[in-house]
Amino acid sequence: MGFSFEKFSTFLAPMRDLTDSPFMKIIAERGCPDFFCAEYFRIHEYYDFEPRVLDAILSRPLGRPVVAQLIGEDARHIARAVRELKKTGCTEMLDFNLGCPVPKICRKNVGGGLLRFPEKIGEILRTIRGEWDGIFSVKMRLGFNSEDEFKVLFEKVASESPDWITVHARTVKQLYRGRPNFVPVKWAAENFGVPVVANGDIDCARAALETARYTGCSAVMVGRGAVRNPWVFRQIGEAFSNAGGLSGVRSAGDSKIRELCGRVFVPTLGDVREYVEKLRISIESEGAYHADSRLKKFLNFVGLSIDPEGEFLRRMRRGKGMSELMKICDEFMLAESGRPFPQEAYSDLCARPNHEG
Ligand SMILES: Cc1cc2nc3c(=O)[nH]c(=O)nc-3n(C[C@H](O)[C@H](O)[C@H](O)COP(=O)(O)O)c2cc1C
Repeated sequence: MGFSFEKFSTFLAPMRDLTDSPFMKIIAERGCPDFFCAEYFRIHEYYDFEPRVLDAILSRPLGRPVVAQLIGEDARHIARAVRELKKTGCTEMLDFNLGCPVPKICRKNVGGGLLRFPEKIGEILRTIRGEWDGIFSVKMRLGFNSEDEFKVLFEKVASESPDWITVHARTVKQLYRGRPNFVPVKWAAENFGVPVVANGDIDCARAALETARYTGCSAVMVGRGAVRNPWVFRQIGEAFSNAGGLSGVRSAGDSKIRELCGRVFVPTLGDVREYVEKLRISIESEGAYHADSRLKKFLNFVGLSIDPEGEFLRRMRRGKGMSELMKICDEFMLAESGRPFPQEAYSDLCARPNHEG
């Protein structure tokens, strides 16, 4: 019997330099996903399990599982890393990254770069399967250059029997640009026994329900949308229960989905200010060198739902030092602290993350 999710599930996406254990805790307090994913361990000859990432895996917020992730290109080093990871006993769940689009990673045929070498993918996945007794998943994109590569790649990955496959519905070449295409994700969910986790711009309850309805996926993974709105998993869960579960979602029309999502918990700008305060405290307690720059990484996403003109984003990006940054947050978030925080980002604003994994 293959693995199956007990119910339609939600994942916090792995995001390098963002999804550490304090951030996972902050998310869990506002509405916990079913699974957390830790950022990757880069595996090469002289790899090291970064304590910060191990700490996130061990943290298990509210007892929920945290999936560890490996990225690499050499089956021998990966085999050694899997054995070492097993010895730590930190998790039952292991994911392999076939999606990272960062050019300096891809050039080494790692992450998304490996999608150009299907035979190598087979060798690595078999190696991991041979060494790891627990749950094993793969996170991939639609292809390297083109979506036309997807069918062959997905079949290849599925033939190694992972417990689920997460698909970020873009090619590597697209990076984070353009709209994700969920047509291939629907094909994957309908034609193989393996559960499919849909990913890519699923940043609010409406998008989660629409993606579940259209693709027939088993779960959704939310990344940047959860940094912008840490209540998103609570909102997705409430919208699903308003629908009476997945079958209700799958038969709902567009207006019904809007109505289901209109009845979920909505935080206020005052709640958002409290979220920012939690981020500030956790960043300062880590002793981050440029604490204000680190907070800006998060505020770049939060700012997408503060004002439609993007004035908060402009002011925040120019802000210098933590106290100026917090004054700008007060100005925009406390002046109308009871105003509802929109579930969706304002269109035409861009988060411009410093780093995309
Ligand atoms: C800053 C940042 C760091 C990321 N780091 C990783 C990573 O370590 N491992 C991984 O599989 N994906 C990583 N990703 C990709 C995300 O997990 C996710 O696939 C992508 O952001 C699309 O989902 P979203 O539109 O919900 O954000 C990263 C993305 C961002 C923006």
